[in-house]
Amino acid sequence: MEILIRPDADQASRLAARIVARTVRQNPRAVLGFATGQTPLPLYRELVRMHREDGLDFSAVTSFNLDEYVGLAPSHPQSYHAAMWANLFGRINIAPERVFIPDGLAVDIPAACRAYEESIRKAGGIDVQILGIGTDGHIGFNEPTSSLASRTRIKTLTAQTRRDNAEFFGGEYKVPHHVITMGLGTILEARTCLLLAFGKTKAAAVAKTVEGPVTAMVPASVLQLHQRAILLLDEDAASELERADYYRFVDANKPDWQKP
Ligand code: F6R
Repeated sequence: MEILIRPDADQASRLAARIVARTVRQNPRAVLGFATGQTPLPLYRELVRMHREDGLDFSAVTSFNLDEYVGLAPSHPQSYHAAMWANLFGRINIAPERVFIPDGLAVDIPAACRAYEESIRKAGGIDVQILGIGTDGHIGFNEPTSSLASRTRIKTLTAQTRRDNAEFFGGEYKVPHHVITMGLGTILEARTCLLLAFGKTKAAAVAKTVEGPVTAMVPASVLQLHQRAILLLDEDAASELERADYYRFVDANKPDWQKP
């Protein structure tokens, strides 16, 4: 794992945007995996700025989102469809036919999940997968005890995750119980995983992910098995890491060719 600690979320997000932009410039037909929630918002703002001011071109990019709430129509303001179009897709030149987000209204959910996996395969796999992390250590909506080999499927949210998202829905009782999410096995196949975590509330989950055992109880810990997992943290999210000084030293002393 590569642990990059920056003073604040904005600086970490700008670095994440540079990594994404470099991928797209090297391969205009890149396949990007996106996350929703609060964490990636500064990254998406920076990508929009790069598109508008630096001509970053998304016209040939394909994208896959990690997850969606079951039962929410794309037009529902809390759906991840709506969030992605409001915060990113509607503000860059991505082609709508190359945007993939799980269908929360699918009638046959297992078939829709299989089709989603097939679309990722047909697109050639995901080059860079953006990830956030839940306070319980989930990535995507792979809650604790998720199979480390899981594929896209329906999951039931934990009470903790529903509480964490209650304010956006105007009450915990309004947060759906079920979601469709890429599996941990699906995420592990992305060529690069870029996990962003900001704030004290994420510090314990980040420490377990990086320095604890690989365990289904902390789904993000499966990233220890990935060959190119980059964690971009602000100081608060890094505050419970025992070896933070070592990660800082590694980061500060990289040879030029290895710099992110
Ligand atoms: C959302 C997702 C989740 C979030 C996580 C953190 O697509 O995959 O894993 O990244 O719940 O959410 P925030 O960023 O709102 O703290």
